[in-house]
Amino acid sequence: MDHFEYRGGEMFAEDVALSTIAEQVGTPFYCYSTATIKRHFTAYNDALDGLDRMICYAMKANGNLAVIRTLAELGAGADVVSGGEMERALRAGVPASRIVFSGVGKTASELERAIDNDIFQINVESKQELDLLSSIAAAKGRVVNVSIRINPDVDAKTHEKITTGKSENKFGIDMNRTSEICAHAAALGGVNIIGIAMHIGSQLCDLEPYRIAYKSGVDLVKQLRQEGYDIERLDLGGGLGISYFEDGENSTPPTPFEYGAMVKDVIGDLDCKIILEPGRVIMGNAGVLVARVTYIKQGPSRRFVILDAGMNDLMRPTLYEAHHAIEPVSQPATGCELETVDIVGPICESGDTFAKARKLPPLKQGDLVIFRTAGAYGAVMASSYNARALPAEVMVNGEDFAVTRRPIEVTDLMSFEDMPPWLAER
Ligand code: LLP
Repeated sequence: MDHFEYRGGEMFAEDVALSTIAEQVGTPFYCYSTATIKRHFTAYNDALDGLDRMICYAMKANGNLAVIRTLAELGAGADVVSGGEMERALRAGVPASRIVFSGVGKTASELERAIDNDIFQINVESKQELDLLSSIAAAKGRVVNVSIRINPDVDAKTHEKITTGKSENKFGIDMNRTSEICAHAAALGGVNIIGIAMHIGSQLCDLEPYRIAYKSGVDLVKQLRQEGYDIERLDLGGGLGISYFEDGENSTPPTPFEYGAMVKDVIGDLDCKIILEPGRVIMGNAGVLVARVTYIKQGPSRRFVILDAGMNDLMRPTLYEAHHAIEPVSQPATGCELETVDIVGPICESGDTFAKARKLPPLKQGDLVIFRTAGAYGAVMASSYNARALPAEVMVNGEDFAVTRRPIEVTDLMSFEDMPPWLAER
């Protein structure tokens, strides 16, 4: 459930009309609902009630500082995948003691910052990373807590580009080598293996792959304990899917409650701290992208609705053939005849198409539309391609709203560029 709905013929975000924000901020912009963020986090957390758990919000889904702080105030930690995300999490107020650091390519300086910040855990994904981390820690006279991210070789049955737990994917360490890696780590001196981590993919709409992967994680924890390792944490990653479709068709993801019941069933009495890294399930439906119709163009075979948002603002349709529900901000008359249109942006690529042959209520020049389910992997993946501004981000809280990130304009971007000395001054 979210808080974007028609009231009196207009789309509202909580108690604020989106048209009011559009007038003040300009389009396109992302709009997030505080009430939805809180609701989603609470539902997810409640679903895991009874487990000794820590929910580390995967901030790659949405790294806006206000979003992270809203979640941190509810007790969330953060799953970060770069030094930059670590800076953001700390700036937003996430305590270092609730930060886990994942990722296949952490550099020496990122590992060093993680050690200096004394974060909760580093999820190591290769033997070389383990060696590097240990040498950096040992040089500082430190021993750092590490979880080994395993690759359970399970097909998450999701889009190819967001599958991470198959042996052919770059992520994690072959789980058959975990004992060997732990033995190697024990001899290093700068690392203390305290956990096992995994993340098998994103937008999972089936619990079975989870069940299989989590079961092998639980078995592995038991095996390592028998081998004498003190394994006290199991990080299950994120990935729970959400519905992107208007009527729930085509994808019927499990509810957080169903997911939680499965987790509790598989974990049983393992006596481990369970770490979870949800991103999309918290933020996806907590945000919309608002855009304005620049032109309507009737081609010989298709009718194009040209928006002022482009693929640079919302990459998902062109990158993953993702479907996002598109709705007019002014509520259409009930039973109005739908038009079949292509919804496109202004970018000079045919790939800049949000939807093909979509049936929508009639739209006209100047109308506002929303893209639903754009709160996760929307603004964070935006680029300035075609020298476009990075879109504004707005947060609503009841009757209040605030711009939580100003648009980053072309002038801002150009201010980072310098002419080489051999070109004329102008
Ligand atoms: N933990 C790790 C280690 C991850 O790599 C990810 C996502 C998550 C947690 C959170 O997964 P979530 O709960 O959000 O599914 N840009 C793509 C999604 C990429 C996901 C990458 N990793 C998209 O727009 O669909």
